[in-house]
Amino acid sequence: MSSPKHVAIIMDGNGRWGIKKKKSRNFGHKQGVKVVEKIISESIKKKINYLTLFAFSTENWKRPKKEINFLIYLLERYVDKELNKLIEKKVRLKIIGNLNKFPTSLKRKLKKSEQMTKNNNKIQLNIALNYGSKEEIVKSVKKINKLSLPINSKNISKYLYTSNIPDPEILIRTGNRYRLSNFLLWQASYTEIFFIKKLWPDFNKKDFNKIISYFSKVRRNFGGIR
Ligand code: IPE
Ligand code: IPE
Ligand code: MG
Repeated sequence: MSSPKHVAIIMDGNGRWGIKKKKSRNFGHKQGVKVVEKIISESIKKKINYLTLFAFSTENWKRPKKEINFLIYLLERYVDKELNKLIEKKVRLKIIGNLNKFPTSLKRKLKKSEQMTKNNNKIQLNIALNYGSKEEIVKSVKKINKLSLPINSKNISKYLYTSNIPDPEILIRTGNRYRLSNFLLWQASYTEIFFIKKLWPDFNKKDFNKIISYFSKVRRNFGGIR
């Protein structure tokens, strides 16, 4: 049974989970981080080469300051607490998205973590932060234009944040919403998409493995007949 090389996840539903538990949206975000750790370990077990997690979109700045600040705090804490474990597990960390809008201390930490894990080869963990697919595509086209290169599909892929990363075979969205919310629009043109009803903090290893094993039976046509 062959595993996919690249799995991408829209980790949606934290806020609703927190409210459902009669706590806060932020409580849900905190719980969501715990699931991230489990899914990384499971991805390594399944020999997945790339795991891409959508953590903050270019549209998420519309949320209340209190929630945004908490998400930034959680991320910073995650890097502080988990970096050593990521190194131990031989995880290579890569941030995709526009980091300019984040506090300098976080930017430094993320850059340093990328640097420190760059030779790790068990799995590459891409965290999408202030990531928006439309912005990414526009940036790519601008770069191609600046370099006076031909605008074609190969070059557009090459100048995306995900340059050199194969397109995901699987995209999972938890949280009972059936949309892509500006995530990997270009890269997901032939991706198998799984919309899961469960909220992200309830998503577990078993759910993940069910998707992975289902995928191995899917016949992918890429427009042809097989
Ligand atoms: C987590 O889920 C995604 C992030 C933006 C961090 P949400 O915060 O969107 O949770 P819901 O969808 O409002 O429940
Ligand atoms: C997508 O979830 C973004 C992340 C999971 C980071 P949203 O909750 O922001 O998406 P919408 O607003 O429901 O489309
Ligand atoms: Mg949501």
